[in-house]
Amino acid sequence: MRIVTIVGNRPQFVKAAAVSHKLRREHEELIVHTGQHYDDELSRVFFDELGVPAPDRQLGAGSGTNTEQTARILAALEPVLSELEPGLALVYGDTNSTLAGALATAQAGIPVAHVEAGMRSFDRTMPEELNRVLTDHASDLLLCSTETALRNLDREAARGEVHLVGDVMADVSLAFRDIAEERSPILEVRGLGPSEYFVLTAHRPGNVDVPERLERLVEMIEALPARVAFPVHPRTEARLEQAGLFDRLEAAPHVELTPPLGYLDFLKLARHARAILTDSGGVQKEAYLLGVPCVTLRESTEWVETVAAGWNVLVDLDRDAVLAALQRRPPAEHPELYGGGHAADRVCEVVGAYTARLCRSS
Ligand code: UD1
Ligand code: UDP
Repeated sequence: MRIVTIVGNRPQFVKAAAVSHKLRREHEELIVHTGQHYDDELSRVFFDELGVPAPDRQLGAGSGTNTEQTARILAALEPVLSELEPGLALVYGDTNSTLAGALATAQAGIPVAHVEAGMRSFDRTMPEELNRVLTDHASDLLLCSTETALRNLDREAARGEVHLVGDVMADVSLAFRDIAEERSPILEVRGLGPSEYFVLTAHRPGNVDVPERLERLVEMIEALPARVAFPVHPRTEARLEQAGLFDRLEAAPHVELTPPLGYLDFLKLARHARAILTDSGGVQKEAYLLGVPCVTLRESTEWVETVAAGWNVLVDLDRDAVLAALQRRPPAEHPELYGGGHAADRVCEVVGAYTARLCRSS
């Protein structure tokens, strides 16, 4: 069957790296890139390093408000779906590209499969939460990373068919950790020794678009008791520049600002960190998979298992809480939470069975 995979931003390219090649063993897959992320360091590097097949269509949607961006992707997808006539479309995660992809596909009367379905932070101030809920309720096949996600969908009486498959980002992290170890020179280039430094990422509008919160983030970074490697997302860079805070961070002797890193450099940097501080969803998960303690700069998370397991602490931007969390010793136990690297196989199995049923009934 012809399957269209709709991707548009950094974490989605990583997720597609797990699934696309496996899907192509049984199906004709075409990749549509929405253009939500367009800089090489947020897009192309992931196709190159992770071997994601090149996109078959580029929508060039670019940046804008959530509404503008979602609307542009929706409008651009309609003719592409009607030209390609897929039997199913696959979307990942919780971004504007995810929601627009699911909605355009459902409106075209084509079944939608959602990978990473059922995640909830229950924080509706985050655009991703609305995207998750709406995408799930527009989807026919709900492919879940965790048992918690299954329960969330059950509570909401989602109409699609629900399956636990594990987490496809875990597949990529496990498959590439040794490759990153060999190929990435990031520690030598940045002069960082194992466990001597923290890794920090921040790009949530709630943390970086609100000037007082951005200043609290900067004050917290200044107070960290070891070197800090901080690959700066373009949203964050723009906000730091606007607030006159970029130079202040750059002047802090223990802070190493870098552009967004490629996957292999980031994976190696994360693996050898003393701890990771982040407001990213994917990075919380990767910290857990790497066995590195995580401090999450948010009040809520959809990756609740990492917190329950004692490897992740939610601190918002409270500097004292951050410093206290960094003193904690990681637990002795490290249970398997995300499918052990087999999620893409499960996705393909479930999609294969579903499409076979579609073919029989048509
Ligand atoms: C988006 C997703 C978020 C995801 C993140 C992954 C939504 C609502 N947000 O947030 O869930 O965690 O991607 O990184 O879908 N920009 C560039 N170059 C680019 C892309 C963006 O400079 O290639 C700048 C633009 O100024 C843009 C800003 O970054 O306005 C934000 O980009 P956008 O894609 O709107 O949101 P993200 O913060 O990246
Ligand atoms: N990542 C990367 N380089 C960086 C920062 C993150 O390759 O400089 C990867 C990270 O390993 C993870 C993904 O990007 O696989 C997470 O994306 P992001 O934090 O942008 O989005 P979220 O997961 O919060 O939606």
